[in-house]
Amino acid sequence: MSDTVTITNEDGVAVIVLDNPPVNALGHALRAPLFAALEAAKADEAVQGIVIACAGRTFVAGADISEFGKPPLEPSLPDLIALLESIEKPTVAAIHGTALGGGLELALGCHYRVADRAAMIGLPEVNLGLIPGAGGTVRLPRLVGPEAALGIIVSGKPVGMEKAQALGAVDAVADGDLRAAAMAFLRAKIAEDGPHRHIRARDEKLAVDLDAFEAAVADATKKARGLTAPLTAAEAVRNAITMAFDDALARERELFLERRDSLESAAQRHLFFATREATKVPGIARDTQARPIEKAAVIGAGTMGAGIAMALANGGIEVRLLELNAEALERGLGQIDKTYAGSVKRGSIDAAEKEARLARISGTTDYAALSDCDIAIEAVFEDMGVKHKVFGALDKVMKPGAILASNTSYLDLDEIAASTGRPQDVVGLHFFSPAHVMRLLEIVRGDHTAPEVLASALALARRIGKVPVVVGVCNGFVGNRMLAARREENESLLLSGATPEQVDRVFADFGWPMGPFAMVDLAGLDISWKHRQSLGLTAPVADALCEAGHFGQKAGRGFYLYEDGSRTPKPDPFVAELIERKADELGIERRTVGAEEITERTLYPMINEGARIVEEGIAARASDVDVVWVNGYGFPVAKGGPMFWAEHFGIGRIVDRLEHWYGETGKEVFKPAPLLRQLALTGGGFADLA
Ligand code: 3HC
Ligand code: NAI
Repeated sequence: MSDTVTITNEDGVAVIVLDNPPVNALGHALRAPLFAALEAAKADEAVQGIVIACAGRTFVAGADISEFGKPPLEPSLPDLIALLESIEKPTVAAIHGTALGGGLELALGCHYRVADRAAMIGLPEVNLGLIPGAGGTVRLPRLVGPEAALGIIVSGKPVGMEKAQALGAVDAVADGDLRAAAMAFLRAKIAEDGPHRHIRARDEKLAVDLDAFEAAVADATKKARGLTAPLTAAEAVRNAITMAFDDALARERELFLERRDSLESAAQRHLFFATREATKVPGIARDTQARPIEKAAVIGAGTMGAGIAMALANGGIEVRLLELNAEALERGLGQIDKTYAGSVKRGSIDAAEKEARLARISGTTDYAALSDCDIAIEAVFEDMGVKHKVFGALDKVMKPGAILASNTSYLDLDEIAASTGRPQDVVGLHFFSPAHVMRLLEIVRGDHTAPEVLASALALARRIGKVPVVVGVCNGFVGNRMLAARREENESLLLSGATPEQVDRVFADFGWPMGPFAMVDLAGLDISWKHRQSLGLTAPVADALCEAGHFGQKAGRGFYLYEDGSRTPKPDPFVAELIERKADELGIERRTVGAEEITERTLYPMINEGARIVEEGIAARASDVDVVWVNGYGFPVAKGGPMFWAEHFGIGRIVDRLEHWYGETGKEVFKPAPLLRQLALTGGGFADLA
């Protein structure tokens, strides 16, 4: 008996209950007493069978991820499962909630699995840059066949009971009292004659055609996006077919440990905790009451408004979409219909689901129709005058306690809030395009935003499947402000001697899905041109390109050439010549620019700006910045975000090079932030700042 494990004997059945809140992770505090309990049950002649069940909201959600960077403590999870598997009396795992990773591996060490109908099982280790390390890759293929196991392990996606039972991963599904069902199942097994077969002894499903398996591997790993873990996971499943059980098990452990010690896994584990940490907002108590949100108004049905309406409707929220006039409204609603039709065509939703979602969205041009909405999200033109008008109108019609949100990218939220008589109800909800797809949501906290309003925004984000990060008011908030710092040198690099393809290659090699020039071409050069003009700024190369009609992909030419409607960028001699001419005009002698220089002049200013953002309290912690960049801007997951990567790479090294470029150019973006200097001096990390 311990705090975390209890064992009771119920008429010859040992019921072992694990209780390690919040998710029964298999940390040492659980492994050690569980090992002792299993040894006792194994040795006790009065025990004829064992049920392993969990207290609280879920079965075991896996190994304790926070232990991975620390010295190992005995017994290890594989040792624990080996002991479980050595027991000859029938053993049953009673699964509710989610049996994930090491949790499912524990259940696979039992003879049988009985699960609650709402339960999910899965091996999500790849999401942490890992592979299953306690037998998952060798036992699951024996239970469900190698191809099905491959799908589950390489995707990391949990499966529900209908599929799990059809595959043979669970033996029985319970609708009522799970513990009673598991007990009844076990008693029937005790009464059966003959030995109970361990999964390790079930080799029948392994007799597969290897060519077909390799085709399945190619298919399952094609979305690996440069990550190693999915490929290693496939290798481990292959070993389950080609090696003897114990050899495959030993190899799985080696591969697991290799992955565990990789930067990729450290980065993904960092992101796992960072994403959860980001929801803990200074000044907001965990029990702060969120206001209920069932009906939402969206103002503006352009690119963002339409996307936001879909994001809300997809989360089951009723939406009223308001536009300037019937024509603009029709256009917006038409765009939504078209987008859903595309999803049906791709098979991501069916026709009935499309109709259900569409039915949640209605249009209006009359503010009075918004009076019963719990929240209004404004996505009109990026113009303070227009925002004032809209917020003034909302203030008049929205019910007391309704939340007034703006999707502004750059404007001062406090100034927007000042156009209402209820600044406490005003918050920024900065979605990313396309808003129904991109997971990041920057929640902008104004000077007066009430804690319940922030709590409501966080709850809304969770409901519609977004990853929220609360940020402070400044030009561009966290993401766009850092993007601006990164962008600052794009033109200068070209003028110094680099080509767009060279710069984009360096970004691709770092792991970005796209380099800055390909990205501008995709977004449209005219957008940033207009933005520059509104701020009185110029960019010699990009401005000249716009003047020549090089608006990007949509025009067939931008920084690259897109021939015959192709989306593949090709170097454009016109652009090369233009860059040379502009450099000439500016008296810049072009020279060879190396990959390192490109990284130093683009990535480092961005990290520097990130440090300023943390320093100023615009982000509550450096890890929030990482969550923003990975979820909103395609920063490579395997590198954990700009601040995590900076720390891994060496803040001192970065500060040295920033100093160098500051000396060379005198540009503010290179002037090392005091926080970076301080960390470089002390050798500390961002986490030490907390
Ligand atoms: N280890 C340590 N802490 C964990 C954890 C784990 N495996 N899983 C969850 N937690 C913590 C979270 O950090 C969070 O802590 P906080 O409250 O202090 O922020 C708390 O438990 C609750 O987690 P969530 O907020 O995520 O709760 P939800 O109810 O939304 O989700 C869950 C529950 C689906 C279980 C989700 O937490 C999850 O997906 N957990 C990770 C599962 C996983 O990846 N398992 C595999 C681990 S690796 C492994 O097992 C290796 C093995 O093969 C050897
Ligand atoms: P858009 O130009 O595509 O859409 C704006 C829509 O608002 C138009 O349909 C217009 O008719 C409507 N509108 C204008 N004034 C209105 C009013 N007074 N009442 C009702 N409707 C009105 O613009 P987009 O790109 O959707 O941007 C909207 C907001 O979202 C801006 O603040 C922008 O900065 C922000 N944003 C844009 C992102 C993007 O990638 N496009 C990303 C994140 C935020």
